[in-house]
Amino acid sequence: MDKLLVKGNKRINGRMRNQTSKNAVLAMLAASILTDKEVIIRQCPKITDVDNMAKILVELGCKVKWEGDSLVIDCSSAHRHEIPHSLAKELRSSIFMLGPILGRFHKAKVAYPGGCDIGIRPIDLHIKGFKALNIDIDESGDTICCDGKDIKGNIIHLDFPSVGATENIMMAAVFAEGTTVIKNAAKEPEIADLQNFINAMGGKISGAGSSTIEIEGVKKLGSVDYTPISDRIVAGTYLIAAAITGGSIEVENCHPEHIYSLITKLRETTCKVEYFNDKIYLTAPKTLQSIHKIETMPFPGFPTDLQAQILALMTVTNGTSLIVENIFETRYKHVAELLKMGAKITVKDRMAIVRGVPKLYGANVYAYDLRGGAALVMAGLAADGLTQINGIHHIDRGYEDLAGTLQSLGADIKRIT
Ligand code: EPZ
Repeated sequence: MDKLLVKGNKRINGRMRNQTSKNAVLAMLAASILTDKEVIIRQCPKITDVDNMAKILVELGCKVKWEGDSLVIDCSSAHRHEIPHSLAKELRSSIFMLGPILGRFHKAKVAYPGGCDIGIRPIDLHIKGFKALNIDIDESGDTICCDGKDIKGNIIHLDFPSVGATENIMMAAVFAEGTTVIKNAAKEPEIADLQNFINAMGGKISGAGSSTIEIEGVKKLGSVDYTPISDRIVAGTYLIAAAITGGSIEVENCHPEHIYSLITKLRETTCKVEYFNDKIYLTAPKTLQSIHKIETMPFPGFPTDLQAQILALMTVTNGTSLIVENIFETRYKHVAELLKMGAKITVKDRMAIVRGVPKLYGANVYAYDLRGGAALVMAGLAADGLTQINGIHHIDRGYEDLAGTLQSLGADIKRIT
């Protein structure tokens, strides 16, 4: 299993070009099954979640090939409506396939995705939405069988603005008879991007980005050649890498408005953060101030996917910070690893109290999930001595060459097998 070795105390300085959004691309790959025409997704990040989603499409009978940094998908010969257990377990977002498979084939079968290291991750809101669309659901055992012979539009109110449920219902409703309205929909930028992607194929969706989305059923979809938005979480991770090392960075190809919540918090630490068009500039002070409170919330609140990374940053600030993880039940697996590096953190239920220390020290630590792994790399960059990060296959799920990019920015980091 590959590991990362980080020799800390090197300032991050320089410029990096941000990758395209993992969470936008995964939803678009799922939506590709809705059309039998060619789909081109440009500037696709080379990450394992994309590889695994592509494997699922191939399993369903689609053709998927890389052409440079574009993924070219042809689902004209798609014929299967069932996602095998092994692949569904590999990738939580396989559940996003239910909606588009139902839209295309009017039936679908997928293993229950189950939880992961950040929480239980139920799918009750997905199921409730499908039932409202006149889809019959059989959840016996650990497989979900859906029968949507006659999908009818409806008004659906989500108990919680779930990203996956919003996207899944949107895709299931694309060919529904009549109009579907999703209320209390998630407002994440990736959802507006999915709307634009489907509309570019001939869909009729409006309102994504707000809490009310309307999907007017259409007969068929055509082809699309699309460049998704850039990854707000990866951009935020690199800003934090510069902040935690007292360095400076220019992140290009990003949407500052997608991470205003992070920019505001980084300014509270007295980092200087400016932005112009698709670039964000950060210069860190010698000593970072702690942040009184950070609460993760649905967009446009502070993103749960940056909680681990900013918690790592708080460990080396001057003062005490309170972090509240409101989205997932157990998204603090990185804390035990940070304690090994000398961090002072107390976790109680969804709260983490972080008392800043002058310095962390290198240790042998383990990544339990994607963003927790990124947080350990952040801590390693700032620590005295050598940090070995194990389980980096989690990091490979969402970051395109994290080590190589950090190296180009001055970090002493290498990947060892
Ligand atoms: C998406 O996951 C993202 N994944 C996650 O990013 C992200 O953390 C999350 O949205 C929140 O922003 C992808 O887009 C592939 P949710 P998703 O449904 O859709 C509860 C990363 O690191 N819930 O918005 O699974 C759920 O338990 C990943 O890139 C229900 O109760 O998230 C959680 O508490 C991690 N019932 C909350 O909603 C449901 O039916 C948010 O979940 C569905 C969700």
